Amino acid sequence: MLDQGAPPHHRTTPAPGLGARLMRRKPVELLVAEGGQGEGGSLRRTLGLWQLTMISIGATLGTGIFVVLGEAVPKAGPAVTLSFVIAGLTALFSALSYAELAGTIPVSGSSYSYAYATLGELVAWVCGWCLLLEYGVSVAAVAVGWGEYLNELLDGTIGVTIPDALSAPPGDGGIFNLPALIVVLLAMAFLLGGARESARANTVMVVVKIGALVMFCAIGIQGFRSGNYEHFMPLGMAGVSAAGATLFFSYIGFDAASTAGEEAKNAQRDLPRAIMLSLVIVTALYVLVAAVAVGARPWQRFGDSEAALAQIMRDVTGQSFWGTLLAACAVIAIASVVLTVLYGQTRILFAMSRDGLVPKVFGRVHPKTGTPRANTVIVSLFCGVLAAAIPLGQLADATSIGTLFAFGLVNIAVVVLRRTRPEMPRTFRVPLSPVLPVLGLGFCVWMMGSLSAVTWVVFGVWMAAGLVFYFVYGHRRSRLATTATPATPASPES
Ligand code: ALA
Repeated sequence: MLDQGAPPHHRTTPAPGLGARLMRRKPVELLVAEGGQGEGGSLRRTLGLWQLTMISIGATLGTGIFVVLGEAVPKAGPAVTLSFVIAGLTALFSALSYAELAGTIPVSGSSYSYAYATLGELVAWVCGWCLLLEYGVSVAAVAVGWGEYLNELLDGTIGVTIPDALSAPPGDGGIFNLPALIVVLLAMAFLLGGARESARANTVMVVVKIGALVMFCAIGIQGFRSGNYEHFMPLGMAGVSAAGATLFFSYIGFDAASTAGEEAKNAQRDLPRAIMLSLVIVTALYVLVAAVAVGARPWQRFGDSEAALAQIMRDVTGQSFWGTLLAACAVIAIASVVLTVLYGQTRILFAMSRDGLVPKVFGRVHPKTGTPRANTVIVSLFCGVLAAAIPLGQLADATSIGTLFAFGLVNIAVVVLRRTRPEMPRTFRVPLSPVLPVLGLGFCVWMMGSLSAVTWVVFGVWMAAGLVFYFVYGHRRSRLATTATPATPASPES
């Protein structure tokens, strides 16, 4: 990477204007050629299809089903099952687009890099800034959910819970959320050990969480009462879509495999498969679990407990053991989300740093472990403090709106790349393009529109802060601006 003090390069053409600079695109070939390279070393290619799929499931299945489901049921009633389907469809259309782009541009920056290649630097930055919500802020939200289940577990095993003052943030009746901070630091310790080691630990945790949800269905179905489904949609379609927007949070993460592009052994072949496979598995589990949960407990009673699934297990069996066992599995399940989402965030910042849009420290690779160490520590501390200090509900919705925005851009990017680079080899193609990507975009807009005004205000402030950062820092230090690398001109015909 060039020093800021390096002499200016000789240009044969006049410097481009602001519009052209904001629209400059990074050639796909350059993105791919730089894959894995960081400051001082390279990432290691150690991950196969199995691990990549586990990373995506690991990042997806967690707080959404174990905690947020309990918040969504009062909004939609038994029709929460439909809300899961709607949120799943939103994820599905976008997953198809992710799969195509991950197979075509297999790098670690995920949608940020896809946007850089197709929609230009400013949009790429905005996308990367949204990914901070999808990954960085969601780690915090998920860590908060982990603390809730940890308390449930402690209560069930030793009859003690961590007092509110130390397990809830200000605004939720506490001072500091210590468990949330602890789980983020634990994940950091794994990530510092290496991608392969983290992937192994994640795989074990994913097997445990799938097992736990299957166990929930097997036991919960015994308490199923068809009467609980009598008023299927008590709060109308508006309730269903509001719950869908909230539950969209539970699908966030299926794209995590796309942040491992530079550590995958056969990225072009395996990334699209991992993304689609994980989404199918997760959707099937969600719909099943939601159907059983609402069948086993009247929807009006879902607001009573934060750990809704554990409560249902207890009610159905009449024994606290099963609820405690589920809480133990949830603690493991949610920890794996923290681990994999944190991983994704570090890799996205790694890619952004290589492009000069965030400081170089995020792109440094430790020569021994082949991991971006400083990056991992900074991101973990940021997420840990956020998790300890902010209530989950607000974080989850902010995460969803940022993710939906990024997904929307990925749907656009597929269509743009088909037009600008039709000849590129693609290991996966979205069927019926541009119809499905446009539908994907439409679903994203619909879901965004269903989020609350407060969430939009938070999002607006977040984006404004991102734009300020870009114009003060990234715009001037962008590698495309400071090196002689030929950026792809902004014209669609390039
Ligand atoms: N989808 C992830 C979860 O539900 C963020 O925990």
